[in-house]
Amino acid sequence: MLGHTPVLAEEVIQFLDPRPGGRFIDVTVGAGGHSRAILELTAPDGKLLAIDQDESALKQAREALASFAPRVVFLHSNFRHVAELAGAERFSESDGVLADIGISSMMVEDPSRGFSFMHEGPLDMRMDRTQPLTAADVLNTRSEKDIADILYNYGEERRSRPIARSIVRARPLETTTELVRAIERVTGGPRYGRIHPATRTFQALRIFVNDELRNLEMFVDSSMHAVRSGGRIVVITFHSLEDRIVKQKFRAPAVPGRVLTKKVVTASEEELQRNPRSRSAKLRAWERS
Ligand SMILES: C[S@@+](CC[C@H](N)C(=O)[O-])C[C@H]1O[C@@H](n2cnc3c(N)ncnc32)[C@H](O)[C@@H]1O
Repeated sequence: MLGHTPVLAEEVIQFLDPRPGGRFIDVTVGAGGHSRAILELTAPDGKLLAIDQDESALKQAREALASFAPRVVFLHSNFRHVAELAGAERFSESDGVLADIGISSMMVEDPSRGFSFMHEGPLDMRMDRTQPLTAADVLNTRSEKDIADILYNYGEERRSRPIARSIVRARPLETTTELVRAIERVTGGPRYGRIHPATRTFQALRIFVNDELRNLEMFVDSSMHAVRSGGRIVVITFHSLEDRIVKQKFRAPAVPGRVLTKKVVTASEEELQRNPRSRSAKLRAWERS
């Protein structure tokens, strides 16, 4: 994954505490950055179940982690039913589960995926390209009210209604550039020192197309069943809607356990300088009783 540096890497290791012979699950293997560290620390015979719903990420992880191949099981799947996946792959009662939620630099930088308002591409936005629903389907077939609700609920976009109206008027929309134009008809163009006016709309569509919040809720509950007593769950999120879910689920867990992060963990000054993507990263950790 070009330019994808794993975020909060030291903190992930501190909380997961991988030791030789340990068994771990990385449900968002991506480019394999965090997985590599886990595999190194669990040598010589530790095992890793590496999951991703994006086939191209999984392909890249397979290549990046080739030298660890006998100790890794790769799986193309959604993480929401992680306990069932763990059971089927003989990873029940694991020592820890890691989720580094969100999209990878590889996805954002690939124009054909349609995630970025910076590149012209089709309005796709599917992390799992075997799923039927795309962003174009949502924008071209949903009612104006539905679109406004999506922008408001998942993007906290204050101008959701006029933007939804502009989108419906511009139908059919096929490319990211056409969507940016429809948004800018309401907001005006980008302004120095402000976030790009399309940021919230793109975020909202991505979350909706990939059902990200529901998947995260189901994942946190399920992950607690995938670890042994003393096993740990570490989750990194990138915006407040997700962090709220993790915080609440850890406080009222599906099985007994305790929160290890009294305060949410964020990137150090040094990491912020090195990796701008870490700016909005929030880490929370939990341990099963
Ligand atoms: C930020 S990247 C992970 C980067 C990785 N930790 C590394 O060090 O390279 C997030 C990954 O999570 C995957 N992902 C997001 N939601 C998922 C889900 N519901 N099920 C499985 N994978 C998911 C994405 O496809 C993406 O590859």
